[in-house]
Amino acid sequence: MNSPSRRRFLTTPIYYPSGEPHIGHAYTTILADVLARFWRQDGLDVFFLTGTDEHGQKMLEEATRRGMTARELSDQMSARFKAAWKDLDISHDRFIRTTEPDHVAVVTAFLERLWNKGEIYEGKYSGWYCIYEERYWTEKDLGPDHACPDCGRPTREIEEKNYFFRMGAYQQRLLDHIRDNPEWIQPTIRRNEILGFLAQPLEDLSISRPKSRVSWGIPLPWDPEHVAYVWVDALINYVTGSDAIDPTRAPAEQGFEDTSASRWPADVHLMGKDILTTHAVYWPTLLMGAGLPLPKGILAHGFWVAGEQKMSKSFGNVIDPLQLRERFGTDAVRWYLLREMPTGQDASFTPERFLVRYDELANVLGNLASRTLGMTDKYRQGRIPDAPGTGLDGEIAATLATIRASVAGYRLHDALAAAMDLARRANGYVEEREPWAQAKDPGRAADLDETLATLVRTLAALTAFLQPVCPGKMVELAARLGLNAVPRLEEVDRVRLGGNQVRKGEPLFPRAELLDAAAAKAP
Ligand code: MSP
Repeated sequence: MNSPSRRRFLTTPIYYPSGEPHIGHAYTTILADVLARFWRQDGLDVFFLTGTDEHGQKMLEEATRRGMTARELSDQMSARFKAAWKDLDISHDRFIRTTEPDHVAVVTAFLERLWNKGEIYEGKYSGWYCIYEERYWTEKDLGPDHACPDCGRPTREIEEKNYFFRMGAYQQRLLDHIRDNPEWIQPTIRRNEILGFLAQPLEDLSISRPKSRVSWGIPLPWDPEHVAYVWVDALINYVTGSDAIDPTRAPAEQGFEDTSASRWPADVHLMGKDILTTHAVYWPTLLMGAGLPLPKGILAHGFWVAGEQKMSKSFGNVIDPLQLRERFGTDAVRWYLLREMPTGQDASFTPERFLVRYDELANVLGNLASRTLGMTDKYRQGRIPDAPGTGLDGEIAATLATIRASVAGYRLHDALAAAMDLARRANGYVEEREPWAQAKDPGRAADLDETLATLVRTLAALTAFLQPVCPGKMVELAARLGLNAVPRLEEVDRVRLGGNQVRKGEPLFPRAELLDAAAAKAP
């Protein structure tokens, strides 16, 4: 049995399945996946939750536009997200859909709990509403012609009965929490943003929409003419996915205060910086209201931009990650996205940078693998020499330490850079040792054994270090080294390789020009 501290629960936002999955969705999900795989690789018991956010006006309007029901659209499009995550080798433990009955039951129980505790009151909302962002704006926030300040689309003026959650009452508690836990919101720039937001009085939160206007949602248990605001519905998915609330039990019997038997609280919620406020203000205050513990951490990443512009469906400049995958393979797309974007900052997507990063896989790592396997094949008939192979042990240990520290600080780009530096160093070691010269001199057979054993050992360590980002290729590389599996991180210094038979095979990452040549030859 794992002790509770060996457990990790991490989440991505649940995506609106009103359009196709794109690079932004893929990035958050791959970021979470790489983190999840690093944790598993370190022997932790991980639960990774992702899914789709299916209620709300936007889904309904898109469905109507396509001549479908909202349910048909969400069935069709959530399947697209699932398929994309399969293609991108995402290892989630649950794909949650907010239309699933257990989630509907948990939202109902959660809201009933707030209602029974007097955390919700009836009021009236008048203002401007952006359907696309699913949020209200006050007149002073709007752009020219009452455009939404976030997405630029027209907003609608509305006045309606709403139920409000007493969010403002939790302002001080939330501020105290953020101040007492400096690492709670990462990176610091985002934490400061939220502190800035909380420097203004915090208003109460409208948590419902009249059914007459938004029919596609979860009815409020005490007033079924109103449905839950889609953001409240969506945020609660994290609790549904944790199994903290048993939807088959009446709300009064729910053990909201004791979540110890469940996965709640989450270790980290991952998301883009665009939806930090909902996660760092609405969500924790809702949890406080319901009497549930807060998530242990919130990590907001930056945006992929094309040139200077945010990449988004509305700008029509979205890169389809699945198209890149067809040419370069899944692992190369994962590598590019994670290696190129420093966690938390924005990054610009360009084909040139993609090729620069691909080149590392082909010419640094791929080259190291090819020459190591090739020389073992040529000089030792493919049998890994039974020599200590400790020539790069110091570097392997130092890389492992950097990776552990980087992963703990969510600096995954640094972890990947450290691994690639080790591959670069190993290529340097080949040049220094000149195994081709050692091979010519029978008196230096032991030196050659040591060189080859060191290189193989380094490659084995690299499969462990890079498996989270390149799972397909690293499993293959481990197999070519005669290993049954990629070693765990803690095992890298004691993997037994001597006597294994290697398999040379084709290049792991063919050079980009080879890919082009192959594509040109294809019928
Ligand atoms: N459904 C809400 C989230 C509810 S979570 C309780 C939502 N969905 S979304 O489909 O719009 O996905 C938003 C997420 O996609 C962002 O937070 C971010 O994680 C990711 N990205 C969308 N575009 C992006 C970029 N151009 N670059 C990087 N990530 C971005 O909001």
